[in-house]
Amino acid sequence: MRRFEGQVVVVIGSATGLGRAMAEEFARQGAQLVLADIDTNKVNEALQSVEALGAQAIAVKTDVMKREYLVALAQATLERFGCVDIVCSNAGVGEYSCSAWEKGDTDLDWVLGVNLYGTAYAVSAFIPIMLKQGQGHFVSTGSNTSLQPIPSMAVYAASKRAVLGYCEALQYDLWNADSAVKVSVICPNKVITDMPDSARNRPQNLAGRTPTAQEIARKTAFLAAGGHTPDEAAKIVLDGIAEQRFYILTNPVDAEQAQAWAAGVRDGHLVRPNYAPPKLGR
Ligand SMILES: NC(=O)c1ccc[n+]([C@@H]2O[C@H](COP(=O)([O-])OP(=O)(O)OC[C@H]3O[C@@H](n4cnc5c(N)ncnc54)[C@H](O)[C@@H]3O)[C@@H](O)[C@H]2O)c1
Repeated sequence: MRRFEGQVVVVIGSATGLGRAMAEEFARQGAQLVLADIDTNKVNEALQSVEALGAQAIAVKTDVMKREYLVALAQATLERFGCVDIVCSNAGVGEYSCSAWEKGDTDLDWVLGVNLYGTAYAVSAFIPIMLKQGQGHFVSTGSNTSLQPIPSMAVYAASKRAVLGYCEALQYDLWNADSAVKVSVICPNKVITDMPDSARNRPQNLAGRTPTAQEIARKTAFLAAGGHTPDEAAKIVLDGIAEQRFYILTNPVDAEQAQAWAAGVRDGHLVRPNYAPPKLGR
């Protein structure tokens, strides 16, 4: 039995990396798909791939920084499939690695714009539909940094902690509304993707420091050391979605980190993370 047979699944940020691998795994497991991304060329390649796996699917150009794209995406989903079962709000970007005091205003606008505002816009566009249906599952991609920030990525870490807080509050609101709609937050850790080259999708009007090819290669090597391929991570994530777990971690070490962090909160001190990403731009 395929676990998502006939379900309508929207994957936002599905052109590359984890989102594309999730879309392909949903297709293998029987889902019908709406693929959304700012990268029209690559999302069309992903569309061909899920269709080859047997899924009914459409691709919709979506820039999650702009609310109107999410409204149009929800409309396109209903027009094509008549309902929505699962929405994966997965688009995400990370800024140039440097100390918190060196981050620029455009880093804040871009990274919070995609990661936090993009999540909030997806919630506003899709949750009212799910409430009307009486069912649905909203899945947001946070990060291991949602649980414990990492050095040199202060804006990214802030955005992903905010995504977790937003989604926890969303689930509380759904409980308060006696709704059966479910929420999950994926916390990936080290998936070997194009994430180190996030700046490829950075808008011109929010230009800022971007990594060199050598710095991207160093970050990719960091992800590859002990990391998962997108396919491996997608399988772990789809198990968590099928089980409707709220927290879906791809690496159990993050649960231990979270426990250590919570003990620090109790005792009143900040715990040092037990690993750090490579320092760049020095
Ligand atoms: N790779 C990791 O180790 C890792 C770790 C923690 C969290 N994450 C999160 O996983 C998610 C997927 O990232 P990934 O690692 O697959 O990287 P990726 O760069 O391969 O995928 C990101 C996707 O988001 C899309 N995107 C970027 N800006 C957009 C916008 N404005 N509107 C719509 N789509 C946009 C990109 O085109 C791409 O398809 C992100 O939310 C990321 O923060 C990844």
